[in-house]
Amino acid sequence: MSLEHALQKFPKDLLLKDGLHCKSRPLRKDDEKSLHDFFLAVPSEERMFIKHRVTEPAVIRDWCQNIDLGRNLPLLAIHKSAIVGVATLHQQLSGWKRHIGRVSVLVLPNYRGRGLATALISEITDIARNIGLEKVEAEFIGGQEAAIKMFAMLGYSNLLRLDNYVKDMQAVTHDYVLMGLDLRIDEEYAGMG
Ligand SMILES: CC(C)(COP(=O)(O)OP(=O)(O)OC[C@H]1O[C@@H](n2cnc3c(N)ncnc32)[C@H](O)[C@@H]1OP(=O)(O)O)[C@@H](O)C(=O)NCCC(=O)NCCS
Repeated sequence: MSLEHALQKFPKDLLLKDGLHCKSRPLRKDDEKSLHDFFLAVPSEERMFIKHRVTEPAVIRDWCQNIDLGRNLPLLAIHKSAIVGVATLHQQLSGWKRHIGRVSVLVLPNYRGRGLATALISEITDIARNIGLEKVEAEFIGGQEAAIKMFAMLGYSNLLRLDNYVKDMQAVTHDYVLMGLDLRIDEEYAGMG
């Protein structure tokens, strides 16, 4: 299935655990301000683990001006016109990892514990499967236990843990954890049902 076809179902309503309604849809050019506001609302101690300087308006402007969903697909969760969660599917279109998508997710603290990250990662994993990727992977630093647990519940398994391997934006060293899911095996099981 083409990416364009896979994205036709968006915008999509998400009904969360406590009855909260959000909408999900891919990033658009006009999301620049809301996306910057979203990153400003992320607690600074968590921002240390984001790989980019997301509080800098120029970084967000560049992302919104140069949207290439085939490379980076940010799927937004929107509540009352504010972005409250983002899951991203990154693809390397050539090289050793061209069959592997990389996913990440971030939900604002006030919106946690309602199944939002689970819903976003389920959606983005489905998109990866539908566009023909064979595997998806997710990277964590050792302390991101909530996220590691959530991905495990969605079927991702631990592929690798390296002690004191990565550095956050303040140059503090952390363990590196790689999790992954084989999308083709899933498909075979689905076919057996
Ligand atoms: C990890 C994160 C994405 C979870 O978002 P969320 O919307 O609260 O997640 P969900 O509500 O879908 O929770 C799914 C499961 O994760 C686990 N979980 C969520 N928050 C947790 C916490 N604070 N402590 C322990 N487990 C937690 C629970 O098992 C939960 O399932 P349950 O509610 O059925 O018990 C969010 O806390 C976050 O953005 N953290 C910072 C960024 C990050 O770590 N990103 C991952 C890197 S890819």
